[in-house]
Amino acid sequence: MESKTIHLILLFIFISPQFHSSYAQTWIRAGYWYASGESPIPDINSALFTHLICGFANVSSSSYQLIIPSADQQYYSSFTEIVKRKNPSIITLLSIWNGQASTAQGILGEKVNSSVLSSMLNQSSSRSSFIESSIQIARRYGFWGIDLFWLWPNTEADMINLGKLLDEWRAAVDSEPRNSSLSKLMLTMAVKYVPSFGSMTYPIESMKKNLDFAHVVAYDYHLPLKENVTGAHAALYNPTSHVNTDYGIRQWLNNSFPASKLVMGLPYHGYAWTLANPNDNGIGAPAAGVAVTQDGSMSYKYIKWYTRSYEAKIMYNASYVVNYCIIGLNWIGFDDVEAIRAKIAYAKEKKLLGYNVFVVTNDDNWALSWAAQDEENAHGKKRRLLLIIFLPITMIIILIASVVCYLQRKLLKTKGSNINYIMLNRSFLVSMHIHATDMHFHFVIWYLF
Ligand SMILES: *[C@@H]1O[C@H](CO)[C@@H](O)[C@H](O)[C@H]1NC(C)=O
Ligand SMILES: *[C@@H]1O[C@H](CO)[C@@H](O)[C@H](O)[C@H]1NC(C)=O
Ligand SMILES: *[C@@H]1O[C@H](CO)[C@@H](O)[C@H](O)[C@H]1NC(C)=O
Ligand SMILES: *[C@@H]1O[C@H](CO)[C@@H](O)[C@H](O)[C@H]1NC(C)=O
Ligand SMILES: *[C@@H]1O[C@H](CO)[C@@H](O)[C@H](O)[C@H]1NC(C)=O
Ligand SMILES: *[C@@H]1O[C@H](CO)[C@@H](O)[C@H](O)[C@H]1NC(C)=O
Ligand SMILES: *[C@@H]1O[C@H](CO)[C@@H](O)[C@H](O)[C@H]1NC(C)=O
Repeated sequence: MESKTIHLILLFIFISPQFHSSYAQTWIRAGYWYASGESPIPDINSALFTHLICGFANVSSSSYQLIIPSADQQYYSSFTEIVKRKNPSIITLLSIWNGQASTAQGILGEKVNSSVLSSMLNQSSSRSSFIESSIQIARRYGFWGIDLFWLWPNTEADMINLGKLLDEWRAAVDSEPRNSSLSKLMLTMAVKYVPSFGSMTYPIESMKKNLDFAHVVAYDYHLPLKENVTGAHAALYNPTSHVNTDYGIRQWLNNSFPASKLVMGLPYHGYAWTLANPNDNGIGAPAAGVAVTQDGSMSYKYIKWYTRSYEAKIMYNASYVVNYCIIGLNWIGFDDVEAIRAKIAYAKEKKLLGYNVFVVTNDDNWALSWAAQDEENAHGKKRRLLLIIFLPITMIIILIASVVCYLQRKLLKTKGSNINYIMLNRSFLVSMHIHATDMHFHFVIWYLF
């Protein structure tokens, strides 16, 4: 190299979009399935989910071990194998819920005696009997994880003890497969839409450390059995109160629970009220109790059938993010495709881990699950579009910068500067990663001098 001119010998730009094999894990599409003969397991389109959560195992009030009702054993023992047929990479979890029997669409309400779990939490020996039994039963039935569905802690002591349970549960789950080729069981928990209520706050530090993720139960805010005004039971926003999902999610984040461990609940059910006055029929209109069913709860599938048979018009209110329809005196509030899409867009924007539907079999021909997936893809496409625009611009800037650099050096050289000696034989490797949800772009730019 006689000439002291700097040679820009090589400029490699190579772009390698790599599709994540772990893409599915970066966005959780979970769903609860309620064990019963009414919703056969083979009907579940498990290809639309990454995680399916089978419910519910109960807790014995004497031994604190899990109880699988004998009628449900057939479902539990075949669940994982059956849902794997349509989606070999599906992950199944067993959910624990200590309450009364309930209908599939509905809701778990608050008709629950919390004291069984409270007293389990209260004693270290009861906690370990609960933990051991949960691991044993999950393994026996071939589940890959355990979910605790307990929305009814009663006291501050419950919350402190819950933190201890999660510490011990995590330790047990981590050490359990040490002697085998099995992977560790996952641990998840369903939580209220807000981290604090009354004088109680969830044991957030322990949850962060010990849970794989938490399901925010972002529905059932208003029930026709309890309130005589029509309500958006799963409102994303509410201009008149804090009872809404956005408020709750922001509280969780503000309490330093990571977005990357928050999974947003989506209801596949709605509620029917009887209007007090057919002409006053918006959200928050006076009502006189339930309509259509005993507790007013209706699966999405049933709502769609019902509205089709009455040829009812389905409205969408974007300030609450809810759909509703009016049939005579019946006012039915629920999430249709619009509400679900808006919620997925919200979850993406807040960088949450994903969503979790309650319950999968209430969907109508998988319309809601398809809408959720479609919105997720649309979001991905938007990101990719941005990259496609961003990419050439970046390349042009880099090229211009190199040319400017080259000319500068040349200029300096003619002025007799020595700066180019310093640069001699030095090579630069500039590597830049643009990290998108589902793609990596690598630029490698080499300057050889
Ligand atoms: C709740 O459970 C506790 C412990 O099993 C029992 O002593 C109590 O009577 C129950 N309360 C109700 C209202 O069922
Ligand atoms: C679960 O167990 C509690 C007592 O621990 C009982 O009151 C409740 O009815 C049980 N629920 C179901 C669904 O069996
Ligand atoms: C267990 O419950 C009893 C009675 O409610 C209470 O006095 C005690 O402090 C609790 N112990 C723990 C470890 O929470
Ligand atoms: C694992 O193996 C060790 C020693 O081989 C044994 O002491 C321990 O009990 C085993 N643990 C389990 C969970 O089987
Ligand atoms: C967020 O948390 C901080 C303290 O951790 C508190 O001061 C603040 O009021 C909270 N913000 C909201 C909107 O709740
Ligand atoms: C949503 O409903 C509220 C209450 O009925 C009403 O005031 C508001 O105008 C509605 N917004 C939209 C966008 O429909
Ligand atoms: C709602 O109104 C109905 C009929 O007026 C009444 O029977 C019921 O007790 C009321 N429910 C509530 C929760 O106020």
